[in-house]
This record gives sequence, C-alpha cells and structure tokens, in this order.
Amino acid sequence: MASLPLGNNTNLDDTQFYNRIEEISFISDNLEVTKKGSTPTILLTGVRGVGKTALMKKLKKDFQDEYAVVYMDLAGMDKFKKDDKLTRFCFMKLFYESLIKACRQSNITTIDIQILKYFKTRNFKLDRWESVDKIPIPILKTEEDYAKFTTFVMDLPQQIYDDCKNHISGILIFIDEFQLLKQLDENVNEFLWYIRSVIQSQKYIGYIFSGSMSVKDDLIGDIAGQRGAFGGRILNYEIKTFSFETTKNYLAEKADYLKFTDDGFERFYKCTNGNPYYINNFARLLPPNEELNEEKIISEFEKTLPYLVVHLTNEWYKLTKQEQRIISSLVEKPLKRIEIANKMGVTSGAIGASLKSLQNKILIELDKDGFKIYDSIFKAWLKKEYREKGDYPY
Ligand SMILES: Nc1ncnc2c1ncn2[C@@H]1O[C@H](COP(=O)(O)OP(=O)(O)O)[C@@H](O)[C@H]1O
Ligand SMILES: [Mg+2]
Repeated sequence: MASLPLGNNTNLDDTQFYNRIEEISFISDNLEVTKKGSTPTILLTGVRGVGKTALMKKLKKDFQDEYAVVYMDLAGMDKFKKDDKLTRFCFMKLFYESLIKACRQSNITTIDIQILKYFKTRNFKLDRWESVDKIPIPILKTEEDYAKFTTFVMDLPQQIYDDCKNHISGILIFIDEFQLLKQLDENVNEFLWYIRSVIQSQKYIGYIFSGSMSVKDDLIGDIAGQRGAFGGRILNYEIKTFSFETTKNYLAEKADYLKFTDDGFERFYKCTNGNPYYINNFARLLPPNEELNEEKIISEFEKTLPYLVVHLTNEWYKLTKQEQRIISSLVEKPLKRIEIANKMGVTSGAIGASLKSLQNKILIELDKDGFKIYDSIFKAWLKKEYREKGDYPY
C-alpha cells in the first residue's frame, strides 16, 4: 500500500519518481550540447527537500548509457579531513574517487592503468596508496605534490574523455550539496575562480552544481552573479516545489487510499508547502481509507510534527546554546541582527559567528526583513514545543 517513497530516499525508481517533465527536458537539452564539444555549466538551486538530489540521480540514470556520469556529494569531503581541516584537497580526493567510480560504472576498465600512467608522466613523489572503498587514493609526500595533485585531478576528466572518446560521448559531472564549499577552511571565492578557470578550458565535459541554497545566499552571487566566478557562463535554474495541482494529482495517483475532503487537501498542501519531502513523509503517516477533513489534517499534523522534522531536530540538538537561542528569538517574527543581540542581552558582534554558522547550515536566512527561520515546518515544531512545555527544547 504505502508506495510513496520515504523522504530520505533519493534513488527513486520509475514508479516513484513523479513528474518533473519540464525540468528534465530543460536540463537535458542543456546537457546534450556536451557531446558537441561544449562545456555546459548549470547551477541547480531550490529549497531543501524539493527534489534536487532525486532529480540528479534520475538524470544520471538517463544519461549513463551515453556518458560517463559522475555524481559526487560534497558531504563526502568529511572523510578526507586532515587535522579536522576541510581544505580543497578533501574536495580533490572526493572528486578523484567519484571520477573513478563513474568510470567503473561506465565500464572504462582501463582507468586504473591510465591513472598510473598519468601519475608517472607527472612525476609525483608517491608516499603510498591508500584504499578507500576499493579505490586507490594516492598519499603524496610533499605540499608541492598536493598542488600538483590538484591540477592532475582537475584535468583528469578531460584526460579520461580524450582516452575514451570512442566509448562515450562526454563526461557529466554532478556536484551535490555545493553549498558545503562555504565550510572550506580557505578562501572559497578564490577556489571558485580556480574551478572556473579549469572548466573554461575543457571540452566535452558538462557540469551541474547543486545545493540547498536560499535565493538570498551569497554563494549564488559568488558563483552566478555579475561579478561571480561563473558570471554569465552558468545557467541558474531553480527547482520549484510541487504546485497545488501537481500535489493533488500525485497523491490521487500514488496514494488513492487517502480520502481527502476539499478543505482537508487544502490544509494538507498548506502544511507541506508543496515540498515533496514533507508531502511524502506526511502522507505516509496519514490513516488510509478514512475521511481526511481540515480538522483531521490539523490534528494529524500536530501529532506527526516531531517525525516530519527529525532531520532538523537532529541538527538542533547539535547546535550551541547561543545558536539555539538565536533561532528561538526568530520564532515570532524576523529580526535584524541588532534586535537579536538586544533580545539576548549581548553585543551585535558577539553573535556574528553563530549567525554565519546557522546560515551555512541553512537553518536561518537573511532577507530584507532581517534574519528568519528557513523552514516553516521546523518553526511550527518549535512553537509547539514552546506551547506544550513552556520553553524551547534546549
Ligand atoms: N520527483 C519526485 N517524485 C516523488 N517524490 C520526490 C520527487 N523528488 C523528490 N521526492 C521526495 O522528496 C524527498 C527529498 O528529495 P531530495 O532529492 O533529497 O531533495 P533535495 O536534494 O532538494 O534536498 C525524496 O526523498 C523523495 O521522497
Ligand atoms: Mg539533496
């Protein structure tokens, strides 16, 4: 019965993946020019849970027969951290690992030999090879070798394409959770310019950068803005939430055991904001074959709230006390930095780092009215906690 996918399942099969026909056709058209020798670069944005990852994985499946498709999730950079520092080498190692995985998937079996060859011709001083998920990762000797490794990795897609062009039409590289670059312990903008300079010289390689970014995010400007690293050369495409009609048709098709009244469905749509993550998770928790009127939806929403926002409450409990107090101060309405500081009885300077960190975690965002809580369902959960327990859950 419950054939709706779970909200954390991004590998949707054809019976689960719904719609997105326009999005797929638009992005595919743009990626297709790769095989003519271009280097399309797409920035895919949209709120958390809207379906960016699911869409990229679908595109990967669609393109995999003709192209080598690399999917890399920047959350994976963490495993390459050294001395707890996130540097561009973590990015490079992940990039390298993801490339090799993609080659293996595309039956480019000579990849290991090729890599060794590339290494030889570049005169690396190798300390040793380390195996991560059966992929040989070179451990280098000197800083200078690391600099060489960076160039080597960034050039690798072109090398692989040139060596395999009888076999594939091009290489597509999807980089997910791109906003995590902001957490690099180095100048992110410089790094973006570096990536852009490399990409600019490539051919037959296509890129999608994707991440949950607020439309107001500085990173979008740094990438795609007038003066951004990719300004004018990158296509910024926003994935939208499901419309009222789409949501209605979706549930009628996939979950016809949910018996909404008209106002019950209207309330359901309001509760989920058309966000597929919430649509699936909330719908999965509703009772089948029972009238779902407005009142019922309201009470079910209250009841299931803690389950709907677990992904965010997990984050919440890991925050510092100051970060939690900042979020709490925004439950009623958006506030300017100085207003938050006043409310907390500290100076505006004292909360700068916390504000940045909360923005990076996409828990709050800044717009013309000030800072506000990014996810309205998370906000509803905080309100409920306060109402029931007399305080926020610190
Ligand atoms: N096209 C779709 N059809 C059905 N469900 C979807 C679709 N896209 C996303 N979802 C649901 O939403 C959830 C969140 O999608 P995800 O791709 O992780 O969002 P994002 O990467 O934008 O944060 C998925 O796990 C899935 O349950
Ligand atoms: Mg995602």
